[in-house]
Amino acid sequence: MMRKALFWTALVVAVVFAAGTGFAAPPDKVVFKAEKAKGPVAFDHKDHGAKVKECAACHHADKAGAEQKCSKCHGDKTDGKKLSLKEAFHAQCKDCHKKEKKGPEKCDGCHKK
Ligand code: HEC
Ligand code: HEC
Ligand code: HEC
Ligand code: HEC
Repeated sequence: MMRKALFWTALVVAVVFAAGTGFAAPPDKVVFKAEKAKGPVAFDHKDHGAKVKECAACHHADKAGAEQKCSKCHGDKTDGKKLSLKEAFHAQCKDCHKKEKKGPEKCDGCHKK
């Protein structure tokens, strides 16, 4: 009985997710072109997700399951506490690496030629 109930619950959950909400699925890897910088930045989303359990640690303004690109809100210029896109990335990426004492903090640690 219990197993059957679990199966149906799982099935309903799967169907609801498959039906989609119009939001993107979490990517495995993101490559930021960063054309004005020294080189592109490869971001391993999957690996970061495994190490940083809280999605909201990075997707700080989104509801769970409705994570968006940072550029949805962060634009060309800093507007008060809402940093420009470049500063938003730099602040979030570097601050955490600094805090964790893991991950690159120097330019060429992220921007690879
Ligand atoms: C260490 C930071 C970090 C963590 C943790 C993280 N993400 Fe992300 N995620 C990002 C970044 C950076 C991007 C790329 C954003 C961009 O392109 O502007 C991204 C992209 C995404 C996208 C694609 C958005 C789009 O429209 O292209 C989804 C969906 C997503 N993440 C979901 C999740 C979920 C779900 C979790 C938790 C299981 C999670 N993320 C954990 C940083 C993170
Ligand atoms: C739905 C809109 C929205 C999205 C999407 C968003 N931000 Fe923000 N962000 C804001 C606003 C608004 C602020 C100004 C401070 C606040 O209200 O939290 C901000 C502030 C920040 C700050 C300044 C420190 C702080 O938390 O106050 C950083 C860093 C940041 N965002 C990084 C990011 C990154 C990186 C992403 C993508 C993974 C992202 N943001 C996605 C709206 C957003
Ligand atoms: C909330 C914490 C956190 C944030 C935010 C974060 N990182 Fe990391 N990052 C880590 C940790 C922890 C490691 C170390 C992983 C290890 O050594 O196993 C790491 C490692 C890395 C590495 C080297 C290993 C690898 O995955 O290739 C790169 C490159 C990197 N991060 C890029 C980024 C970029 C780019 C961003 C912003 C878009 C970012 N990180 C945001 C925690 C974070
Ligand atoms: C922890 C990773 C990380 C480190 C360290 C880092 N960056 Fe970045 N940088 C990024 C990410 C991610 C972006 C966003 C790229 C995008 O929006 O396409 C970016 C964007 C930029 C841009 C804007 C690129 C564009 O085309 O708009 C410049 C310029 C830049 N970085 C220069 C630097 C310099 C100089 C340093 C060293 C002082 C540095 N970065 C250190 C991750 C990093």
